[in-house]
Amino acid sequence: MSSSTINKSEIANPELAAQGKKRIEWAERSMPVLAQIRDRFTLEQPFKGVRISACMHVTTETANLMRTLAAGGAELALCASNPLSTQDDTAAALVHEYGISVFAKNAIDRDGYYRHINAALDIAPHFVFDDGCDLVNTLHTTRRELLPTILGGCEETTTGVIRLTQMSRDGALTFPMVAVNDTDTKHMFDNRYGTGQSTFDAIFRATNTLVAGKIVVVAGFGYCGRGVAERAKGLGAEVVITEIDPTKALDAMMQGYRVMTMHEAARIGDIFITVTGNRDVLRAEHFERMKDNAIMANSGHFDIEIDVAWLEKHGRKNSKIRHQTDEYVLQDGRRLLLLAEGRLVNLGAAEGHPAAVMDLSFADQALTAEWLVHEAKNLKPGVHEVPTEIDKEVAALKLKSMGGEVDQLTPEQELYLNSWEHGS
Ligand SMILES: NC(=O)c1ccc[n+]([C@@H]2O[C@H](COP(=O)([O-])OP(=O)(O)OC[C@H]3O[C@@H](n4cnc5c(N)ncnc54)[C@H](O)[C@@H]3O)[C@@H](O)[C@H]2O)c1
Repeated sequence: MSSSTINKSEIANPELAAQGKKRIEWAERSMPVLAQIRDRFTLEQPFKGVRISACMHVTTETANLMRTLAAGGAELALCASNPLSTQDDTAAALVHEYGISVFAKNAIDRDGYYRHINAALDIAPHFVFDDGCDLVNTLHTTRRELLPTILGGCEETTTGVIRLTQMSRDGALTFPMVAVNDTDTKHMFDNRYGTGQSTFDAIFRATNTLVAGKIVVVAGFGYCGRGVAERAKGLGAEVVITEIDPTKALDAMMQGYRVMTMHEAARIGDIFITVTGNRDVLRAEHFERMKDNAIMANSGHFDIEIDVAWLEKHGRKNSKIRHQTDEYVLQDGRRLLLLAEGRLVNLGAAEGHPAAVMDLSFADQALTAEWLVHEAKNLKPGVHEVPTEIDKEVAALKLKSMGGEVDQLTPEQELYLNSWEHGS
């Protein structure tokens, strides 16, 4: 590996590189769509001369996305989008096995987190990949000198799209950002099946609790919440949903879940999972009603959904009584268990989504980046959709890789669907 790449990185432990490579290759086995795109990029070099800064969870799946962009000729700098999600072996392998600059260490403090974002920006990128909007936000606040050369970027998650939309509404966003989160092939699968499964993977690793027979309270019945609720039900839990949107709440009821306020749910829940993208969903008034040994986990993007500051102030903390499990003993003796410090649990206490589902999200990212190289100049500053053709292409490739097939329209069917004359 060139020493310049290695010098331009900050990772925890280079000796983990061989182990990280094995795990990256393991993830690759479940990412056939991305592999196909990588083969094409290797031949066509769509990113020759293009610099990309990426702020994403440093996982084995992201590593395969980075390899795909690098194969297409991109110069890359990767930093973490969450201090707890970095897999140090993955970071080491990216630097020492694949020659990609990485600035990420697991459990880094806030200053280190932002130092890494700034270091990833130092390559003066043409394009940015963000997951939660921290990198784009940094660009528009403290690194504005870099804005003139930025052509565009992609955003991976719901929370990031919400922040970007607000920036755009306020006229603050200076370049086009594409909402990869909003493709069907991302949120219908990654948010639902990925978050659903990996949230429980994390709860098991952290607590080894039995879910069957428990009451699982899921706050938020959006794409992620739906996936979490389905998995909880499948594991034998009684599922309670809390919502603020009556339509989502009604949908939850018709799917057979109980729906109530968090005030009510706090009293009966055994396991609480927040996945709203909103703040203070579990707070003092709820902690005061919870049962002894209640487990709390957050799968929303930021660590704001559970009021950890209140627990720190009012509970006696027994740190890490198990892997990523902190216990807070309240004055009346009740013990509340907080997983992964209230940060997104599936990346803090487990490995994030399975590679097979990230194959879709990152195929979307790779193809959108290729499209942006040509189209960014024609897009106004603001939040844009991924072209439908990319979404459909990714779905078709994945379906094929899983052995599924769709019917083709007959000419009569096509005509019928495009006409209005035929009635009963
Ligand atoms: N853990 C992961 O790997 C992962 C993956 C994808 C998305 N996310 C994050 O998860 C969060 C949710 O994403 P989504 O795609 O499901 O969003 P979504 O908009 O589809 O769903 C969020 C739901 O929460 C509800 N809500 C808001 N405030 C609430 C409150 N106080 N109480 C109860 N419900 C409330 C909303 O009405 C909405 O139905 C976001 O922060 C997103 O970035 C995490």
